[in-house]
Amino acid sequence: MLPFLFNKKSGILGINSRNLDYLFPNNPRRLYRYADSKLETKKIAQRLGVTIPETYGVIRFQNEVKQLADIVKKSSSFVVKPAQGSGGDGIVVIKNTTEDGYIKSSGKVLKPNDLHYHIHNILSGMFSLSGQKDKAILEYAVKFDPIFADVAYQGVPDIRLIVYQGVPVMAMLRLPTKASDGKANLHRGGVGVGIDLGTGKTLTGIQNNRYISQHPETGSPLKGLSIPHWQRLLEMSAALGNETEFGYLGVDFVLDEDKGPLLLEMNARPGLSIQIANQTGLIPRLELINDCLPKLSTTQAKIKFAQETFGLASREPVLSIT
Ligand SMILES: Nc1ncnc2c1ncn2[C@@H]1O[C@H](COP(=O)(O)OP(=O)(O)O)[C@@H](O)[C@H]1O
Ligand SMILES: [Mg+2]
Repeated sequence: MLPFLFNKKSGILGINSRNLDYLFPNNPRRLYRYADSKLETKKIAQRLGVTIPETYGVIRFQNEVKQLADIVKKSSSFVVKPAQGSGGDGIVVIKNTTEDGYIKSSGKVLKPNDLHYHIHNILSGMFSLSGQKDKAILEYAVKFDPIFADVAYQGVPDIRLIVYQGVPVMAMLRLPTKASDGKANLHRGGVGVGIDLGTGKTLTGIQNNRYISQHPETGSPLKGLSIPHWQRLLEMSAALGNETEFGYLGVDFVLDEDKGPLLLEMNARPGLSIQIANQTGLIPRLELINDCLPKLSTTQAKIKFAQETFGLASREPVLSIT
C-alpha cells in the first residue's frame, strides 16, 4: 500500500474529483475524439508546429494489410499502432526487418503473417477505445536520446505532462522495463519517475506502487537525470493546452536522438499516478492556477509561473510519507 493519506489535506486528486471538478467542466465532450484518435492528434500537432513521429502510412481496410511491406520499405524499423488505442495496447515496435521476419524490440521475431494478423486485429477494433473498427498507423520508430541509455530496457521512454488551462502542472518520465514489453505505460510494469518542473531533473522512481531508486533491470540510478530540451517540452505542452479547448490535458512526448521532442499523444482523461511518482498531490497546484490565471496572459508567463511555483526550489513540503 502506498503511504499517502488520500484525503483533502494530502492534496491528492482522486478519480471522482478529477472527473467532476476538472474534466467535465474543462474538456468539451465533442473534442474527445481529437485526443482519442492519434491521427487527429497528429493533425492538431502539425497545425501548432508541434513535432511528431513521421507517419509512413495508414492501413484502413482489411484488404490493404498486404501492402505493409511496401508502406514501410524505406525504413527497417517502424511502429505499428492502433489509431484509437490506449495504455500501450496493440502497439508493436519493430526494431529491424530481416530475412527471418520483423524483429521486435524484445528480440522476438514476427513472421510477416504474424504481423499481418495483428494488423487485422487492430482494424477489427480489438484495441480501440470505443470497441469500434479502427485504423493501423505505421510510423517512425523513435531512437531514444542517449541520456536514457542506462535507464530504458528494450524500448522508448516517454515524458507525460499534465497541462491545466495552458499551464504545465506536473511531469513524469516513464521507462520501459522487461515487464512492459518495449512500452513505457505504468500499468504494464513500466517505471514512473517524478520530474522537477523547474529544471527538468528527475526525482525518485516508482514501479507497481513501490518507490525505487534504481532501474529494476539495468540497476542505474533514476534520480538526477537532466531531461534534454526541457524548455521546448514545456513550450509545446503549454501550446497544446492554450491552442486547443482542452482545459485539462495529458500530453506524452518522446525524445528522439536526432529529431528532439516528438508528441506521441494527447490524453483527455490523464491518469493520476503522476502524483505518486512526484510524491505530491495535484489539487494545490490546480487551485493555485485557478487563483492566478487572470494574471497569466501569455504562454511564456504560464511557463515561467509553472517553473517558479511548482519547481523543486520553491516546492511545497513532500506530503505525509511514513
Ligand atoms: N513511434 C514510436 N517509437 C518508439 N516507441 C513508441 C512509439 N510510439 C509509441 N511507442 C512506445 O509505446 C508507448 C505508448 O505509446 P502511445 O503512443 O502513448 O500509445 P498509448 O495511447 O497506447 O499509450 C510509448 O510510451 C513508447 O514507449
Ligand atoms: Mg500513451
